[in-house]
Amino acid sequence: MALSVENHDLPQTPPTIVVMGVSGVGKTTLARLLADRLGLPFAEADDFHPAANIAKMSAGVPLDDEDRAPWLRAIGAWLGERTEDGSGGVVTCSALKRRYRDTLRAACPGAFFLHLSGGHELVEDRLSHRTGHFMPSSLLDSQYAALEPLAVDERGAVLDVGPSPEQLVEMAVALLRPVNGDLA
Ligand SMILES: Nc1ncnc2c1ncn2[C@@H]1O[C@H](COP(=O)(O)OP(=O)(O)OP(=O)(O)O)[C@@H](O)[C@H]1O
Ligand SMILES: [Mg+2]
Repeated sequence: MALSVENHDLPQTPPTIVVMGVSGVGKTTLARLLADRLGLPFAEADDFHPAANIAKMSAGVPLDDEDRAPWLRAIGAWLGERTEDGSGGVVTCSALKRRYRDTLRAACPGAFFLHLSGGHELVEDRLSHRTGHFMPSSLLDSQYAALEPLAVDERGAVLDVGPSPEQLVEMAVALLRPVNGDLA
């Protein structure tokens, strides 16, 4: 009788996924749908800011990398805990710079970065239709200027955000399947 070795050496634990990209590219929209689709816990990067950062942002003062460090460590800790407790998880985080992603990986080496990529015009158009948030065009410019795409040694994939959210979820699942053999 032949032994089945199907997926035997692939990781069978639920994935820890960071949905990254510039402001308004669609991180929250996709990450929520993906977490639902895969039955994973969901978190938003914005919810991990220490009180000092919230005070700064409320006063309209931009955060610097020193401010971002404890925030990124907290997001990394959440991902690390999701690995340790075996639940997996999906978190939104712009994670624009390599060094920010390095901080997340330090706490969660297996994190998979799903970079949502879209052109300036498309994102600006979507943002102009979003209610409840205001994003000046100049701020979007600075996001693109800061963006450091994934390097070849970083675990992750790029997803162009042209298609509908429902299509993107299925594309994301397909991208994750080779690294997580038991995804539905
Ligand atoms: N694939 C898509 N097709 C069409 N519209 C989309 C798509 N994804 C997101 N949107 C719309 O684009 C806008 C921005 O999306 P969303 O709020 O998810 O972006 P975000 O990256 O989380 O933004 P932020 O960085 O401000 O948190 C929303 O109005 C959303 O409904
Ligand atoms: Mg969001």
